[in-house]
Amino acid sequence: MATNSLAAGYVLVEGYPSVEDYRNLREQSGLSPRNEEQATKSIAGSWYGVYIAEETAPTKAVAMGRVIGDGGWYFIIADMATLPAHQRKGLGDVVLKKLLAEIERRAAEGQAYVTLGADPPGRKLYMKNGFQDTMPDTMGMERHVQGQGQDQ
Ligand SMILES: CC(C)(COP(=O)(O)OP(=O)(O)OC[C@H]1O[C@@H](n2cnc3c(N)ncnc32)[C@H](O)[C@@H]1OP(=O)(O)O)[C@@H](O)C(=O)NCCC(=O)NCCS
Repeated sequence: MATNSLAAGYVLVEGYPSVEDYRNLREQSGLSPRNEEQATKSIAGSWYGVYIAEETAPTKAVAMGRVIGDGGWYFIIADMATLPAHQRKGLGDVVLKKLLAEIERRAAEGQAYVTLGADPPGRKLYMKNGFQDTMPDTMGMERHVQGQGQDQ
């Protein structure tokens, strides 16, 4: 069941979780761990993000998603994650719909391209929200690079 409205007891916040919550959300939801520098830079370098918290603790993120984008036409959805205790309540769907709505609202006039890497837990959610497998036309490819942390 995909929902448009937020389940009772939760609030949707525009912005990013704290670095600590971001790292915790990734780890607790089973995504690869990221160190403090990576987390700090990824949040600072994002185009848009939202998180969901419980009403009783509105700054403590229990679900999140963010967009990396050029603001023109190319956008990547990243870090879709919900803490296990809060999964299957429609939070991921609310996050994803909000990210897509913001891209639609602010992208340059014309067709924008939105892409993501779809791990198995999110695939149905993404397909329900209009994403399609790019194969056989386009193959998603990846490469890992060892960052050195040198800003200058
Ligand atoms: C992918 C992920 C972010 C989805 O978050 P979520 O908050 O559980 O998402 P939703 O609740 O909106 O949807 C998940 C499922 O719960 C179902 N659901 C939603 N509300 C529900 C309810 N009230 N009761 C029962 N099921 C419900 C949805 O229909 C959906 O089912 P489906 O996948 O079989 O279609 C989450 O599973 C996660 O963090 N996974 C680990 C990290 C990961 O792999 N992230 C994706 C990287 S690409």
